[in-house]
Amino acid sequence: MIRKMDMSDIRFVYDLEREVFGKSLEKQMLTDEILYNDLARYFILENDGKRLAYAGIWITKPNAEIINIAVLSEHQSQGYGQALMEKIIEFCQAKQVENLTLEVSEAKQDVIRFYEMFGFEKQAVRANYYEDGTDALLMVKPIGGQQ
Ligand SMILES: CC(C)(COP(=O)(O)OP(=O)(O)OC[C@H]1O[C@@H](n2cnc3c(N)ncnc32)[C@H](O)[C@@H]1OP(=O)(O)O)[C@@H](O)C(=O)NCCC(=O)NCCS
Repeated sequence: MIRKMDMSDIRFVYDLEREVFGKSLEKQMLTDEILYNDLARYFILENDGKRLAYAGIWITKPNAEIINIAVLSEHQSQGYGQALMEKIIEFCQAKQVENLTLEVSEAKQDVIRFYEMFGFEKQAVRANYYEDGTDALLMVKPIGGQQ
């Protein structure tokens, strides 16, 4: 089941981000995102009542941006990332978003392939974007906007 994230999920998302990225947006920022950022929409994926993954987007019309997507390490490669991505795309279609964008480290070739599966294409490189000096790739998927 994929549902909207709420305050009860902050701890899970914080721990998940620390596990997969080694750092988190921090609890206060996650709280602000949920309570005050009207542009933000975060999703939680659960299976059998257990939280397994999350994804967050900002809907800055006409476009939207994926802020983060992550699955618990022990549950990766089981289709949960794909389910979340399909949900995001469906949500953006309903909101008549024109382009869905994201940034990903050029070092994460497997994740780049994951995004390409959903029709994201490389659009630009942001040099030295990350703290460790790696470049970021800007990827874009056309959604279609107002039909
Ligand atoms: C990237 C991520 C969200 C993908 O979610 P997932 O649940 O592991 O992926 P899925 O099981 O839904 O995979 C769907 C397809 O994507 C591809 N894929 C996913 N992970 C892959 C990997 N590590 N290497 C190669 N292909 C991969 C596969 O083709 C897979 O299809 P298949 O299982 O039928 O072969 C997840 O692995 C993750 O959280 N990674 C760590 C955090 C991260 O780097 N997030 C991205 C931030 S920019």
